[in-house]
Amino acid sequence: MTIKTRITEEFGIQYPIMSAPMGPFYTTELAIATSEAGGLGVISHATLMGKNSIEDFKAQLNYVVEHTDKPFGFNVRTARVQTDHKILLRKIPEWRDEDPRLKEQLIYGLTSAGGPRKAAAMWQKKAPDMYHFHVGPALWLVDKIVESGCDGIVSTGIEGGGHQSYENISTLVLTQQVAMKYPEKLLVTCGGYASPEGIAAGLAMGADAVAMGTRFIASKESEFHQNYKDLIPPATARDTVLTTGGFGPIRLLKNKYAIKHGEVISKQEKINQEHQFTMEEYLEDLHHYEIVYTEGDVENGAIPVGQTAGMIDEIKHVDDIITHFTKEAEKKLKNVCSRIT
Ligand SMILES: Cc1cc2nc3c(=O)[nH]c(=O)nc-3n(C[C@H](O)[C@H](O)[C@H](O)COP(=O)(O)O)c2cc1C
Repeated sequence: MTIKTRITEEFGIQYPIMSAPMGPFYTTELAIATSEAGGLGVISHATLMGKNSIEDFKAQLNYVVEHTDKPFGFNVRTARVQTDHKILLRKIPEWRDEDPRLKEQLIYGLTSAGGPRKAAAMWQKKAPDMYHFHVGPALWLVDKIVESGCDGIVSTGIEGGGHQSYENISTLVLTQQVAMKYPEKLLVTCGGYASPEGIAAGLAMGADAVAMGTRFIASKESEFHQNYKDLIPPATARDTVLTTGGFGPIRLLKNKYAIKHGEVISKQEKINQEHQFTMEEYLEDLHHYEIVYTEGDVENGAIPVGQTAGMIDEIKHVDDIITHFTKEAEKKLKNVCSRIT
C-alpha cells in the first residue's frame, strides 16, 4: 500500500511530505534527512547566518548534493526587507545550469513572504524544469500566485509556526478554498500538521503533499538547539501567541520575549515602524532570535512554533515521522473508504 499523488509522481519522491522552510538558518541537515527518508527536504533562506549570504546559500546546495542523491528544494523570501532575494532569484538558475547534480536534484523553488512575480518571470525563462511554488495565506493572494504562472501553491494558514500573514485564515478553510477553485494546480497544504490524522485530512482535501515545520523542529536531525526542541513536547496548543516579527505577524511560543513584545500591529504601522527603526534597534530585535539558536537562551529569546506543539509529545527521527505518519495516514484513508458502501 503506497499513496501516490501528483507531487510524489512528478517530483519522483516516495512520500507526500515536505519539510517547511524555517529560516533562522538553512536547515540543511533537516532537508537532507527529509529527502533521504523519501519526502522532499527544503533548504531555508537564512536570516542569521552568513556574512556573504549568496555564497553561503550556494555552499548549502553543494552540501546537500554531496550528502544525498535525492530531489530537494529551497525557499527564497521575497520580502522588502530581505535584501539579498533578487540576487538569489537570478543566481540559482545559473548554479543549476553549471552543475548537473543541482540541475537534476534541485527541483523545487518555493518563494514566500513577498510577491511571486519576479521569481516566476525569471524562472519560467531560466529554469523551466524547476517547479515554482509560492506560499499563499489567503484566496485573493492565491489568485495572484496563479496569475503569475506558478506551478503550485503552498496554502498556509494562521495556526502554523513562525511568520504568518495579516489575513488570519485557517489552513482548513484556505486549503479547501484553493482545492475547489484551482483543482488543476499542484497544492501543498501547510500549517497545523503534525499527525497521521492531519496528513490524511490534508490529502483528502485535495492537497498533493503536506509540509510541516514545528513537527520537524522536534526531530533528532534538525539543527535547532536542544533547549528549543525540549520546549515542544510539554507545550499545549494554547501556549503560542501572535506578535509582530521582522516580516509581519509571527507565531511564537509564549515566553518573556513574546509577551513583552506585544500584539500584532497593522501592516501600515509595521511599514512606518520599519522606516523609523535605527540599525541598532533592528539588530537588537534580531539578537532575540539569534540567542535561541546560538546559546539556547529560550527565556529571553524569540521561539517560533505553531499550535501543533500541542500535538507533539516526543522528539522523533525524521525517517520515523515521514514513514510512520504516511503509513498511518494511508490506513486512516483506507478505513474511511472501506466504510463507503
Ligand atoms: C522557526 C520557524 C522559521 C520559519 N521560517 C520561515 C521562512 O524562512 N520562510 C517561510 O516561508 N516560512 C517560514 N516559517 C513558516 C513555516 O515554513 C511553516 O509555514 C510553518 O512552520 C507551518 O506550521 P507548523 O509549524 O504548524 O508546521 C517558519 C516557521 C518556523 C517555526
